[in-house]
Amino acid sequence: MERQKATNITWHGANVTQEEREGAVGQKGCVLWYTGLSASGKSTVARRVEQLLLERGVFTYVLDGDNVRHGLNKDLGFSPKDREENIRRIGEVAALFADAGVVAMTAFISPYRADRDLARSKVRPDRFFEIFMDIPVEVCETRDPKGLYQKAREGKIPEFTGISAPYEAPLAPELRLTASLDVEASARAVLVFLEEKGVLQ
Ligand code: ADX
Repeated sequence: MERQKATNITWHGANVTQEEREGAVGQKGCVLWYTGLSASGKSTVARRVEQLLLERGVFTYVLDGDNVRHGLNKDLGFSPKDREENIRRIGEVAALFADAGVVAMTAFISPYRADRDLARSKVRPDRFFEIFMDIPVEVCETRDPKGLYQKAREGKIPEFTGISAPYEAPLAPELRLTASLDVEASARAVLVFLEEKGVLQ
């Protein structure tokens, strides 16, 4: 839920348009919103896309769940309310990055549809792309790089997404990546997608 606590505040518009700002950096700001279970490859693919984009001279930045939870969102846990607030804040941050002309990539489980839709609503409709890492929980559990699924099965981690907490799959993601694609193929698919959308020339 969004709340407005402060009163007596006034919105100040910029003197330059987003187009003018984008002209200065020579690229189009957007948000690539990766969503999927833990160990579905969100961060790994985003990091590879980051490399490929930088090789092409595109300024990009990855906001990663585990990292952001060390700083900006260190006061949040994994209850439904905390996850909602986690995604709300990151939605706002990603929108600011996009507004600044950056290709912003977010790698958060973001398990709730309503929260992802809220993040989407903060960005121009043609500049928000939901990328669904459509990897079944059985596959993620086999990967288990951090040993978290095992701990969750042993009851040592409560409310673990896919085991004891829900994941609401996107109904109409702009791009869906499956287990049949390895990291490199997934990253290339994202680049092809960005070319098709006109984000990349
Ligand atoms: S989200 O649900 O709020 O979007 P976020 O992406 O920030 O989650 O963080 C998920 C990461 O936190 C996982 O990849 C995992 O490393 C770690 N984690 C720790 N506890 C949990 C939990 N209960 N459920 C899911 N992930 C958890």
